[in-house]
Amino acid sequence: MVAARTIKIMRSAVVPISSRRHSGILSVYAAIVMGFMVLVILEGAVVRATGSGAGCGDHWPLCNGVFFPHHPRLATLIEYTHRFLTGICTALLAVLIGWTFLARPRGHRARRAAVWSGVLLITEALLGALLVKGGYVENNASGMRVLIQCVHFTNTMLLLAAITLTWSWLRDRPQPAIAGRRARSAAWLALGTTLLVGALGSVAALADTLYPPASLHSALLADFTAHAPLLVHVRWLHPAFALLALGCAIWLAVQIRGGLGRLVLTLIGLQIFLGAMDVLSLAPALMQVLHLLGADLYWIALVFACAAVLAPRPGLQSVPSRGTSAPGEPQRFNFQKRIL
Ligand code: HEM
Repeated sequence: MVAARTIKIMRSAVVPISSRRHSGILSVYAAIVMGFMVLVILEGAVVRATGSGAGCGDHWPLCNGVFFPHHPRLATLIEYTHRFLTGICTALLAVLIGWTFLARPRGHRARRAAVWSGVLLITEALLGALLVKGGYVENNASGMRVLIQCVHFTNTMLLLAAITLTWSWLRDRPQPAIAGRRARSAAWLALGTTLLVGALGSVAALADTLYPPASLHSALLADFTAHAPLLVHVRWLHPAFALLALGCAIWLAVQIRGGLGRLVLTLIGLQIFLGAMDVLSLAPALMQVLHLLGADLYWIALVFACAAVLAPRPGLQSVPSRGTSAPGEPQRFNFQKRIL
């Protein structure tokens, strides 16, 4: 009943009818940019999984010193495609930022999220350039490469989060707003553990690329053998922390309930299944790409759900999360009464 009341309040949020269609197109465009960004991320995994990171030599932004590579080998094609898609994505994002600034008033949070997307895209490109220029590609197994790889992947996740928030805050559709201290703690924990799992996943992916497992038995043994390379040694941390992230996601889903909670749980369940398949099939490139796609979809859903908890839309009343107050007790949270 409380949820129905909230939806009613949200529907009545003041949005001029004339601007609704325009807003709708803008949020669809933001969703397209988000989908394109996922494509670029997946292509990045293809570059790593096929060892094509040096396909353009140590040249950046040119490829082997030229704009269009002549008679490219496969590695050059793969790396060049990644750079080409990144260029298109940059242009799409620039349009999104400009459009958001035109369509939303000063101080609107979609504007802030759009600016963050731009900033994180620049740092993403700089980190990618650092990998190429510093020679942290192909068979380089140095600690520095591992560190840059982790930072690079964390930046990727933050970039995807910023675009997700831009899209989410451009939408004029009702979105559930959930209040409560426990829900907020669960949201922060779920976000934090997933970021950690992602960074550790990028290390596991690097380990599988540099030291491809010969068999499941030898791969599992190598994780705990004293003389195994450090990269292989820390591989088990990724699935271990994924279970911790699962615990946090379950706690979050219990707090927020409803379709959003079920979506988060379904996607993390699918992701853990894909991870297990990845290990059992000795991480072929296709499986790696599928697992990364699962991670991106889960991350988008999680950020969307956490936004409803941590930054509900101004001007809307909030639904209490589970356990916020006992039946009949007065609510223990502050209603959001600000007007946009
Ligand atoms: C919350 C759940 C999970 C998330 C968000 C997640 C995310 C990721 C990410 C982002 C990568 C790096 C992909 C890349 O850079 O190409 C990765 C790699 C990997 N993950 Fe997970 N993962 C999860 C659960 C699991 C589980 C439970 C397992 C094993 C049972 C697993 C096994 C692997 C393996 C073997 C790799 C390296 C090969 C590859 O890149 O696919 N993951 N994971």
